[in-house]
Amino acid sequence: MSSDRRKFIKQLGSTIVLTSASLSGFAAIEDHERRLLQAQKRYSSNDKIRIATIGMGIMGFNDTNAALTCPGVELVGVCDLYQGRLQRAKELYGKDIFTTNDYHQVLDRKDVDAVIIAASDNWHSTIAIDAMHKGKAVYSEKPMVHYLSEGLGEIKAQQETKAVFQVGSQRVSSIAFQKAKELYQAGAIGQINSIEASFNRQSALGAWQYTIPLDAGPQTVDWSRFQANEKTKLPYDSNRFFRWRNYREYGTGVAGDLFVHLLTGIHFITNSKGPDKIYAIGGTYFWKDGRNVPDVMTAIIEYPETKEHPAFQANLRVNFISGEGDRSSTKIIGSEGVINLEDDQGFTIHKNKMPVAPGIGGWDSLSTFPEAMQKTLMDNYNSKYSAADQKTPVIPGVTYNSPQGYNSSNDHFANFMDAIRTGKPVVEDAVFGFRAAAPALACNESYFQNKVIHWDAENMKLV
Ligand SMILES: NC(=O)c1ccc[n+]([C@@H]2O[C@H](COP(=O)([O-])OP(=O)(O)OC[C@H]3O[C@@H](n4cnc5c(N)ncnc54)[C@H](O)[C@@H]3O)[C@@H](O)[C@H]2O)c1
Repeated sequence: MSSDRRKFIKQLGSTIVLTSASLSGFAAIEDHERRLLQAQKRYSSNDKIRIATIGMGIMGFNDTNAALTCPGVELVGVCDLYQGRLQRAKELYGKDIFTTNDYHQVLDRKDVDAVIIAASDNWHSTIAIDAMHKGKAVYSEKPMVHYLSEGLGEIKAQQETKAVFQVGSQRVSSIAFQKAKELYQAGAIGQINSIEASFNRQSALGAWQYTIPLDAGPQTVDWSRFQANEKTKLPYDSNRFFRWRNYREYGTGVAGDLFVHLLTGIHFITNSKGPDKIYAIGGTYFWKDGRNVPDVMTAIIEYPETKEHPAFQANLRVNFISGEGDRSSTKIIGSEGVINLEDDQGFTIHKNKMPVAPGIGGWDSLSTFPEAMQKTLMDNYNSKYSAADQKTPVIPGVTYNSPQGYNSSNDHFANFMDAIRTGKPVVEDAVFGFRAAAPALACNESYFQNKVIHWDAENMKLV
């Protein structure tokens, strides 16, 4: 390694302990370095990408800030249905930015190249399709759609308009997930057979009871626009507007909100197109605040053998009242080891391999046989298997820690801006986005209809 490169990696602050020589590829890190170097490049006014954010709530502000870390990106305006958030956007980004509560006004602007859609789930698909038809590049928050029935229409709109379209599940751009993918694909855990992945939370905010502003009401919130797509119009309700995740009319429950992150990571690492069988149970066990979606949900999902991977099963769980505290992990289990990913922070790989010899004695039937029989069986065993064959191999594991303060959303936006500037494919297109969202939404179908859902992942259709 050149001394420049060593210095650069030190600057990045990531730690990688690769104790197995065969697993010492650095491609994911190189990609990150390349991006950081590119970030130092100056952009001319012709190269500028002018963005606007539609849905300026918690994620709208986070996404906008992440987008603005990319060089040559400027914020033109924002759209939101609560006046206080438009005011906050002016406080943060300048009083001259354009603000509106009608997203069509953003799409009509010639000076907007790309839009970030960070509205509630019920609006993702409608706004994304309208934006693509208006010639905008689109960064759509996850889940790509609110309902399974919306997916193919959105994919069609992208294919017809050829718009740059990326879904906002940032795990796909995470340096830790990229590195884990490389090692997985290089055979680090043998043959995959199962996955255990979960989000545990233990707080009111974690369970979506977000703060409601003091002036919340029909005079500050465009309630009729918020529920414009709903068949049943309800009177104004601050909980339904500011805590929309708790209502399936606007949100997608813990499955659409959080399983989709787990599935995105799983599909990215395994190159999977998706499962064929989905079953979920759930219940509102603790947060009995009027929500109509579960606060604890478990899904059992079956992935059939395909050319991309062997058959495996996934067990997903979200628990909003977990005594384990706040914790998320994805454990990918193979015949020779396990990858344990903890969000963006990094991962460990533990390796365990069976000895060549099957074993004899101990918790076995051997001792139940007459002594002479035991001796003959032992002699036969020892002559068949060498001492080396009888030993369990000890294989060192791998630990990877992401650079301190690493934020995969910044990299995800960098990838989006790269696609706009260079025309190279996005890292998470509509097909990938729908293939990750669909099994998550199928968990809701399974829970509400109390049945197993069968899914054709290749053609993206319910069976
Ligand atoms: N990628 C991630 O890690 C991540 C994290 C959090 C949230 N999200 C996603 O971001 C989205 C927003 O979540 P949030 O926590 O910011 O919610 P939020 O309630 O804080 O903000 C949503 C905002 O959208 C606005 N809105 C709703 N309908 C609109 C419309 N038709 N036009 C304009 N604005 C509209 C609302 O006024 C609200 O201010 C969700 O879809 C969520 O799944 C993604």
